[in-house]
Amino acid sequence: NWTMDSFIDKEIERIRAIVGETGSVVGAVSGGVDSTVAAVLMKRAIGDRFHAVLVDNGVMRLNECEQVKETLGSQLGINLRVVDASDIFLGKLKGVTDPEKKRKIIGNTFIEVFETESHKIDEECKNSGAGKIEFLLQGTLYPDVIESISFKGPSATIKSHHNVGGLLEDMRLNLIEPLRELFKDEVRALGTLLGISDELVWRHPFPGPGIAIRILGEVTPDQVRIARHADYIYIEEIKKAGLYRKISQAFAALLPVRSVGVMGDMRTYEQVIALRAVETTDFMTADWFEFPASVLKRISSRIINEVEGVNRIVYDVSSKPPSTIEWE
Ligand code: XMP
Repeated sequence: NWTMDSFIDKEIERIRAIVGETGSVVGAVSGGVDSTVAAVLMKRAIGDRFHAVLVDNGVMRLNECEQVKETLGSQLGINLRVVDASDIFLGKLKGVTDPEKKRKIIGNTFIEVFETESHKIDEECKNSGAGKIEFLLQGTLYPDVIESISFKGPSATIKSHHNVGGLLEDMRLNLIEPLRELFKDEVRALGTLLGISDELVWRHPFPGPGIAIRILGEVTPDQVRIARHADYIYIEEIKKAGLYRKISQAFAALLPVRSVGVMGDMRTYEQVIALRAVETTDFMTADWFEFPASVLKRISSRIINEVEGVNRIVYDVSSKPPSTIEWE
């Protein structure tokens, strides 16, 4: 891919020219394709003067934090630090059931934690004789740019966790957005050229508030355990069935209702998992995915057998609109 090859070289030169010989750069990564591609470009341009931060908010998927450490840190060689803030996030989410409140708490806490860490990195840089932090990296894509200019609908809140204006002002940072002229398919092509694995390049999108908005009602450590485990099995079976790339986004949602079941000769009274899978090109409209019945059957029996606290599985057959993709 000639165009993308020349994009890489040009972009690396452009970043070097902007950052200069001494400055340092900080950026949050999530394990998703956008922030990873941006981070790899930055690493190629300025090496360890780029400091990547992964905030563990306690509502990432099963093993996800370890996986990001392995992929970005060990395999891609990015100077990465992981901040375990799960107790802070889960503490603030305690007793909260309103979806918008959950989003706000997670968004604001993310900024606080990231800001504190950025100040720490800045001090360390200065003390070690490296240049201070002067820039903030963001993996903003072209559609995000357009959306934030022209659209003040629900998406304005969707992107609210990206609002790091205070951080920029407080530390006098300038923004670097190497992907701001690219579409998603171009970022994926770029990712492949940069040596990022297919698994990461083709990963389904995952929302900033994580599984907290897929646990309806209160987010407790035990609800997190159930939602994580069910989602893990669901995605594993989708991959085994060779359907992952056909589906645009899939996840398990944990419903805060109990229903009666029977296990052996015992009556059970446990929670419900709702499975969601959609096909879409732009995520503004979406159709529910038509699974082969045999795949749903396997997923259902595995989740009920393996995840303690679940005795019923339902499949979400709603399109967007009028439903949204997420449940909260
Ligand atoms: P909805 O549920 O609005 O979702 O149909 C459309 C797409 O946006 C994702 N989404 C989010 N992404 N932070 C994000 O980064 C959020 O708060 C958020 N809410 C929804 C959703 O997963 C889907 O891909």
